[in-house]
Amino acid sequence: MPNFTLTDSQQQALLDAARQARGRAYAPYSNYPVGAAVLDESGRIHAGCNVENAAYPEGLCAEAAALSAMVLAGGRQARAVLVVGSGDDGNWITPCGGCRQKLREFGAPELIIQSASALALGPRHTLAQLLPESFGPGHIRAN
Ligand code: THU
Repeated sequence: MPNFTLTDSQQQALLDAARQARGRAYAPYSNYPVGAAVLDESGRIHAGCNVENAAYPEGLCAEAAALSAMVLAGGRQARAVLVVGSGDDGNWITPCGGCRQKLREFGAPELIIQSASALALGPRHTLAQLLPESFGPGHIRAN
């Protein structure tokens, strides 16, 4: 049974990694830098930032970049994700729809998705809350 608890020190490490990644974001068009950090099944942390493009739809979200780093490092299961945006006080960042689906590929319904800003921690959700009744790898394997 996977462990989906997030200790205070793991959360702090995710926060540090995501904030550092946000500092490297390339977001000249939206001026909305984002950093994300994923905790994998081995307890390792993988970070990513958004990378925008003059051809706007070609931009990459921070969560997608963090998942790519996880896969490259051999990680295959996301246990927790922390996302740092600019919003706080009721306007907290949560992963976009496309990133929720990307997280679904490597995360169980209990995957923790923690929102944060540069200044504070925000709400915590599970993947099941943000992407209910989702389509995933099990549907393909059922064929
Ligand atoms: N963005 C992310 O990187 N992650 C999110 O969860 C929401 C949005 C990026 C995409 C774009 O570069 C900028 O934030 C504004 O939408």
